Amino acid sequence: MKAPIRVAVTGAAGQIGYSLLFPIAAGEVFGPEQPVILQLLELPFAIEALKGVEMELRDCAYPLLQDVICTSDVEVGFKDANVAMLVGSKPRGPGMERADLIRENGVIFVGQGKALDAVADPNCKVVVVGNPCNTNSLIARAQFKRLNPANMTAMTRLDQNRALAQIAQKANVPVSAIKRLAVWGNHSPTMYPDFTNATINGEPLEVVINDDAWLNGAFMKTVQQRGAAIINARGKSSAASAAWAAIDHVRDWFRPTPEGEWLSMVITSDGSYGVPEGLMFSFPVTVDANGDYHIVQGIELSAAAKARIMNSAEELLAEREMVKEML
Ligand code: NAD
Ligand code: LMR
Repeated sequence: MKAPIRVAVTGAAGQIGYSLLFPIAAGEVFGPEQPVILQLLELPFAIEALKGVEMELRDCAYPLLQDVICTSDVEVGFKDANVAMLVGSKPRGPGMERADLIRENGVIFVGQGKALDAVADPNCKVVVVGNPCNTNSLIARAQFKRLNPANMTAMTRLDQNRALAQIAQKANVPVSAIKRLAVWGNHSPTMYPDFTNATINGEPLEVVINDDAWLNGAFMKTVQQRGAAIINARGKSSAASAAWAAIDHVRDWFRPTPEGEWLSMVITSDGSYGVPEGLMFSFPVTVDANGDYHIVQGIELSAAAKARIMNSAEELLAEREMVKEML
């Protein structure tokens, strides 16, 4: 029997938590041979609800689930964590932008970044889901002294999945036919879903779809505004799709990326493509056999694409300025 992977999840009694924990325990993330221990964090007022989630997790009798720890103490929840999924934070409501949450949610990531740095496994891999996720991850990363800052990431995989779904419907192909469709920038309306380098069944996407007005118009807007559309329709922000994207993000960080595929991950910019160094920015990446990601190099970007990427970077610089005392 392999040693268990310890997975810390914050906000575990929330909407996303309820869709996220069960697939992790069932082996969807780390595979059918890998035991897991779930270390679940909640605010004190939600611990009772979290106990109910724990009961349900145990009642599933998952063979891979070795233990469930429920706590509101970050130093207990993050102790020796190999993976930390930082979901806990307030979601936006109708009429708000994600950046409106920046001051209220940002402060959570100061304490959590410090606690991770104090007690997590030295190689702990972190994904921030709570919004505004790029800047929250910047705040958490700033607290790292012992942990590897390269192991701090945030989630734009939901945006990539949304883009894939739109293209698949338009071209009437399965999503698996589409490759190299990546999302750049901030998880906000300035994100850039780059279809210009994507392929469908090996053909350039723009040749197969051949509808510039749709690609640059309805497609782009739908992906950029999908979070708000879901809030308007459900009265609550996306949950099951967000949980599934978080599962995709972590699973694909633990295995080599198949040849010819790209993943969208918010990672620390190394200055590639002119994105200011140090920003937490979504790039197309691939993961190697050691579980290290690399920004895809040599991508051709049009002047319009470069302008969109820089626009998103400017927005992130402005967000960084708003939280500078937390960095
Ligand atoms: P929710 O309100 O249903 O659940 C959030 C949970 O977090 C609550 O149970 C709350 O008690 C808990 N929490 C708050 N502060 C905490 C803290 N300091 N420590 C531990 N737990 C804490 O919200 P949700 O729908 O699950 O969404 C959670 C976050 O994820 C929101 O910020 C939302 O905007 C974001 N989100 C991001 C994406 C993305 O693509 N990056 C997608 C969907 C949602
Ligand atoms: C999403 O994209 O669905 C989430 O970030 C929630 C939101 O506020 O849009």
